[in-house]
Amino acid sequence: MAGPSNVSNMVVGLDIGTSKVVAIVGQPTDDGGIEIAGIGSHPSRGMKKGVVINIESTVQSIQRAVEEAELMAGCDIHSVYVGIAGSHISSMNSDGVVAIKEREVASADIDRVIDSARARAISEGQRVLHVLPQEFAIDTQGGIREPLGMSGVRLEARVHLVTAALNAVQNIEKCVRRCGLDVDAIILEQLASSHAVLTEDERELGVCVVDIGGGTTDIAVFTEGAIRHTAVIPIAGDQVTNDIAMALRTPTQHAEEIKVKYACALTQMASGDEMIKVPSVGDRAARDLSRQSLAEVVEPRYEELFTLVRDELRRSGYEDLVAAGVVLTGGTARMEGVVELAEEIFHMPVRIACPQNVRGLADVVRNPIYSTGVGLLHYALNENRQGLGPQEQDGGLSAQPRRNDVSRRGPEEGTSALVKLKSWFKGNF
Ligand SMILES: Nc1ncnc2c1ncn2[C@@H]1O[C@H](COP(=O)(O)OP(=O)(O)OP(=O)(O)O)[C@@H](O)[C@H]1O
Ligand SMILES: [Mg+2]
Repeated sequence: MAGPSNVSNMVVGLDIGTSKVVAIVGQPTDDGGIEIAGIGSHPSRGMKKGVVINIESTVQSIQRAVEEAELMAGCDIHSVYVGIAGSHISSMNSDGVVAIKEREVASADIDRVIDSARARAISEGQRVLHVLPQEFAIDTQGGIREPLGMSGVRLEARVHLVTAALNAVQNIEKCVRRCGLDVDAIILEQLASSHAVLTEDERELGVCVVDIGGGTTDIAVFTEGAIRHTAVIPIAGDQVTNDIAMALRTPTQHAEEIKVKYACALTQMASGDEMIKVPSVGDRAARDLSRQSLAEVVEPRYEELFTLVRDELRRSGYEDLVAAGVVLTGGTARMEGVVELAEEIFHMPVRIACPQNVRGLADVVRNPIYSTGVGLLHYALNENRQGLGPQEQDGGLSAQPRRNDVSRRGPEEGTSALVKLKSWFKGNF
């Protein structure tokens, strides 16, 4: 298999979702985009509501996805940028202040002020995942985005701190390492998704991105170019499927199929004349159901979900500051009628977004289910462009020194067991 021209700048995003695990290999293009070299996807077994509940099953899903991506990209994957979600995540805004040593802000001053902002009491069992600078103030001048080189005596920083349960982080790391891979960095999923789907203008104007997957709905709010608020709601597409299974008394896999093919989130948009067949449990005969009746089952759950998101946005204090409205992504956003229903509830413009700035397998990855996976690549490449090591940019903790994410796979090597074994040993020792 022909390998890509240059593997040294390739990075790999691994999205361990509740519905599917995706590994995406990409490299930067000259225009600031991403060339996708390979993608592997496998149904996720072993995750619930965004967290690992079965290590063995999760490891298998990751292995399959990674092998598929390796085959397609013609390279061996050694390390990955991984996403994290779940109700164990918490976030807060925090301030720090230091004296400017030489009366002119040096990068060491910026590091110190960010350190001082992150030095908050973190609950036991939580680990800091991200320290994301929002803005700086020098003496009495606030609203500074780039303080380097500016004169003054006192430097203040305001940051968004994201923490995650240590156990949940360790379980993800364990699963990845068992596959013979290193963890470059662990990134909050909605932060990754926002890198893939938001425009610069939206971030500046103010926007709320909502990634609705199978297990969790992940929210991030941006205003004036910086992240202000993040939250996770443990309700998403799995609940919709469950509602259909219960209401129609049909097995879950049929409910899932019916949902994806025929469901509509807004009853008034679904026709009462269009009939679908619903398989029953056991050996009872299949029944006929109108699409409108199906929508009547689905709408209340989407309505509940959007109401919870709106309440969260209201609580955060940013509801009136998101002039660009709401950007929906994730598989559950793909249902017909979702934008219309969401606009009714949010009273602001809503759009559904797919990953942007991608080339290569663009037709495949321009799908809301890949926003996190592609976003992990954007995050990683951003970091590399700035010449920073993993998570140094936002002050997160890095477990491992950085090495190349991928290496070229020779045509004769293929996926031979020996090569796999070698790379497994490389990853573990
Ligand atoms: N066309 C569609 N209409 C409605 N729902 C859909 C459609 N396509 C996919 N879904 C739903 O999207 C969900 C999967 O989305 P996604 O792949 O973004 O989740 P995930 O990333 O694996 O999960 P999570 O992020 O919650 O851990 C499933 O519940 C699936 O039923
Ligand atoms: Mg997801």
